[in-house]
Amino acid sequence: MDKNYVNPDYVPEPEKVNTKKGLEGSVIDTSSVSKVNAETNSLVYRGYPVQDLAENCRFEEVAYLMYNGELPNTQQLKDFEKLERGHREISKNLLGVIKALPHNCHPMDSIRTAVSYLGCEDVRVWDKSPATNLDKAILLLAKIPTMVAADYRFKKGLEYIAPKADLTLSENFFHMCFGKVPDAKIVKAFDVSLILYAEHSFNASTFTARVVASTESDLYSATVAGIGALKGPLHGGANEQVMHMMKEIADPAKAEQWMIDALAQKRKVMGFGHRVYKSGDSRVPTMKKYAQVMADTIGEQKWMQMYNSLEKVMVEKKKIYPNLDFPAGPAYFMMGFEIDFFTPIFVMARTTGWSAHIMEQVANNRIIRPLSEYIGAPQRKVIPISDRR
Ligand code: COA
Repeated sequence: MDKNYVNPDYVPEPEKVNTKKGLEGSVIDTSSVSKVNAETNSLVYRGYPVQDLAENCRFEEVAYLMYNGELPNTQQLKDFEKLERGHREISKNLLGVIKALPHNCHPMDSIRTAVSYLGCEDVRVWDKSPATNLDKAILLLAKIPTMVAADYRFKKGLEYIAPKADLTLSENFFHMCFGKVPDAKIVKAFDVSLILYAEHSFNASTFTARVVASTESDLYSATVAGIGALKGPLHGGANEQVMHMMKEIADPAKAEQWMIDALAQKRKVMGFGHRVYKSGDSRVPTMKKYAQVMADTIGEQKWMQMYNSLEKVMVEKKKIYPNLDFPAGPAYFMMGFEIDFFTPIFVMARTTGWSAHIMEQVANNRIIRPLSEYIGAPQRKVIPISDRR
């Protein structure tokens, strides 16, 4: 029998399946971490509009907000940053694990493995008390950039560059990847991208992380699961696909026709569409602004010209709008990152949202265990193997 067999005698009982395919529109639980409001095209983190946070805060302040529910004052930020900066180093063994990975493995597989190894190193792995979970969240915030940058260097056959404690998180990431900190405008554009990527309610990876946390598993395991979900091109992996697509188009003058053809072929165009936002992603105007800053800073308008042409045709013909991955892809490319590191950079940001949700789930837990409606073979008798044909 085909494994996808559907029992022809199955009588559909639509009322039994009380959620739409892909859980569309289903409110699964309550949360105080963030609110996505499709009607007003807005996103707030613990009450603060994400655009305001992006313009007025550094990523570290937003991480503090995620974990503690309030923005830090000067002293609180100082203490938090001292902790984060103190945790940036990774062990020799973990560095060895990253170095030993096959050079052609995707950096998302590297970071998934590295976070898993970090969990093996932490003797408090089963301690899920609020204080220990917060400490683990800060460890991840501090060490994930070091792991990603180490993988970046090793994959290029370059020496590892150790983190520096006198740099901000974003500055330090550039330092560990390239050996230097670029112009402040570039650092700001990168920092903004981390703020915009930090959190987005019950998206696929966050929901995955919460499901794992709900089994009373540990914060590292939940984060590893989140990374696995984020890797997919329908979720975080889209930022890489956007840049592959733009490189394939190559010439802004060809972008309009490329999109017309893609739509005629019913292709899914990466970086467009969203399950929740139907008339534009609240994060896009801010990220587009900083992608344009990147274009002006490096003196290369090609990718933004292509951006505008692709967007124009898609909106005119399908009324489907860009999501955050559309401006983030070319922005990261213009910053000098290799394309397959775009989604690991997303991990650096989203670890804050994941940890906040995992802690929220742990604080008021019930195992997440939905049902399915069975449509397979009717009940039948097992025939002994000797009689089976
Ligand atoms: N390109 C072309 N058509 C698209 C599209 C895209 N990126 N996104 C949605 N559509 C179309 C679908 O083909 C469908 O059309 P139909 O009703 O004629 O069949 C309609 O819009 C609804 O799309 P659907 O796939 O049902 O939406 P979804 O809520 O299940 O999926 C996404 C949401 C984000 C997964 C989807 O828009 C997508 O695959 N986008 C590209 C990947 C991406 O950028 N992901 C990052 C998300 S932040």
